[in-house]
Amino acid sequence: MPRAVRFDKYGGIEVLQVVEVERPTAGPGKVLVRVKAAGINPGEASIRKGLFAERWPATFPSGQGSDLAGIVEEAGPGVTNVGVGDEVIGFTENRASQAEFVLVDSGNLVPRPGNVSWEQAGALFVAGTTAFAAVRSVALSPGDTVVVSGAVGGVGSIAVQLARNAGAKVIGLASEANHTWLTDHGIIPVTYGDGVEDRIRAASGGKIDAFIDTFGGGYVELALKLGVPTNRIDTIIDFAAAAKYGVKAEGNQVAATAEVLGQLAGLLAAGRLEIPIAKVYPLAEVRDAYRELEQRHTRGKIVLEP
Ligand SMILES: NC(=O)c1ccc[n+]([C@@H]2O[C@H](COP(=O)([O-])OP(=O)(O)OC[C@H]3O[C@@H](n4cnc5c(N)ncnc54)[C@H](OP(=O)(O)O)[C@@H]3O)[C@@H](O)[C@H]2O)c1
Repeated sequence: MPRAVRFDKYGGIEVLQVVEVERPTAGPGKVLVRVKAAGINPGEASIRKGLFAERWPATFPSGQGSDLAGIVEEAGPGVTNVGVGDEVIGFTENRASQAEFVLVDSGNLVPRPGNVSWEQAGALFVAGTTAFAAVRSVALSPGDTVVVSGAVGGVGSIAVQLARNAGAKVIGLASEANHTWLTDHGIIPVTYGDGVEDRIRAASGGKIDAFIDTFGGGYVELALKLGVPTNRIDTIIDFAAAAKYGVKAEGNQVAATAEVLGQLAGLLAAGRLEIPIAKVYPLAEVRDAYRELEQRHTRGKIVLEP
């Protein structure tokens, strides 16, 4: 029987298990994908811990995961956009991608360009569409200066490249170990922590037009202190600050479409976007994968491979 990640109650990493499950079959409009790679995301850890129990409750036993890339195993009646054997990138809204097989709505799949690795393909959906939404929300033009917090994390590492592609000067906040990666991608690195405000002002040359916060913990207030207008500040995590100050909170939900996923896959294929893969874990080591992710110092994405 195929294996899948499951948890039966809210809790720490120890509630995660890899269990044998029934092999799904593809009904009308559905596609059964044999998963080659599935990215993991901090939001999944928050859901598992019960931190979003009111906003996005779990039903038990719960599966886990939205991101996926794999090979079409079965196409249900009425499916015309993909066929058996096709290599695809996609997403599920059913918390189910961390598994050997996942059932996906056919409209949630795009082709995997042959030169995009399985790992990057499988890590693309949540972080990519969130970065896309965040960059779009601050409306960058060539010559703008934008600051990105968490600049080398899953979302940040994609957001800085999309902002660069839009012609902006990009200042990325990261620890020193990540500065070379930022410089190599045309981003100005700035160390976070005490004195960050002065360092950003110095790096910017005085003009800061936009701020994308992917980390929380006071970066919205910092953006306001730097003089960035509220309609050009986006936070994907500090919803309390967004409500308090009227800044934007656009993330995955406003860009979670196959169309955006296809655009991002095209950028990867064209070499205009790269997803750093921090580590690949076998599905059976899902607990170790989240243990690493939850340290909050991942460069790019961590991926599970069934
Ligand atoms: N609203 C949405 O739709 C949405 C979607 C996806 C994610 N999210 C949320 O957005 C956040 C980021 O997600 P992610 O996948 O990018 O997370 P991630 O990959 O875990 O981000 C890790 C990054 O955070 C950086 N970091 C650690 N401490 C920091 C500090 N004090 N100041 C600035 N940066 C710091 C790390 O940099 P160093 O390694 O250099 O320390 C690392 O690059 C999470 O809270 C997630 O739940 C929201």
